[in-house]
Amino acid sequence: MTVSTPAWFDEVAPWFVGFSQTGAFKQRVEAFSRAAAGVRRPADRLPRCLDLGCGPGELAVALAAQGFEVVGIDASSEMLRYARETAARQALAVTFLQGDVTAEFPVLGFSPELIVCSSVLEYLEDPEVVIARSAHALAAGGLLLVSIPNPKSLPRREQEALYSLRRRRTYVDQQRSLVPHTELARMGEAAGLQAIGIRHFSAPRLLVRWSKLRLVGTLTLVVFRKPSS
Ligand SMILES: C[S@@+](CC[C@H](N)C(=O)[O-])C[C@H]1O[C@@H](n2cnc3c(N)ncnc32)[C@H](O)[C@@H]1O
Repeated sequence: MTVSTPAWFDEVAPWFVGFSQTGAFKQRVEAFSRAAAGVRRPADRLPRCLDLGCGPGELAVALAAQGFEVVGIDASSEMLRYARETAARQALAVTFLQGDVTAEFPVLGFSPELIVCSSVLEYLEDPEVVIARSAHALAAGGLLLVSIPNPKSLPRREQEALYSLRRRRTYVDQQRSLVPHTELARMGEAAGLQAIGIRHFSAPRLLVRWSKLRLVGTLTLVVFRKPSS
């Protein structure tokens, strides 16, 4: 497996579960759910979704509640353990598989109408490979939603400066590729996708109302569509 830090994600899984109950995380789920509403739904079945690097499953489960048939993939067995518990608690059927998203995607037997990849690419040596595989796997007309850290965000810069001053070991040490959203859009276009939207989102409580501003939102979501033919 070419995952750089699966042991670290196993270790921080309980912390991440706590974080996934915060207001900041709810903004993440809202941003993805809103963009996912743009998926064209097949007439005869539920639309299918692949969640790459699903972590403890909050987003996967929210998308299942929104009416998607969801498969989540993650490298960390601890994250997956929590993800299965989250789905069971909400009585939602979500399939969770252990795997490396930089390797071949598991054989699904279908082309998803939606692929989501939330806060994962920054931990990979070669994020472009995931974009290219996603573009290939996606159904024609489907959406790929990818979020990455927004390096222009002042709240993010402040938080990371504090971590550095306190010499705290955090996610920052695990990051491998911090690509700007313009570069992410280029990767998608190179893989044959159209970048149809860019949104900044997620901010500390006092700044929530400004989270769509580039200088505020700590994350950036790029929405790609695969051409229909
Ligand atoms: C910051 S968490 C984000 C989790 C989830 N997407 C969310 O937004 O709540 C990053 C996740 O990516 C997973 N991950 C990192 N590299 C991976 C890889 N190469 N293959 C599969 N999962 C990976 C980690 O195990 C972790 O669960």
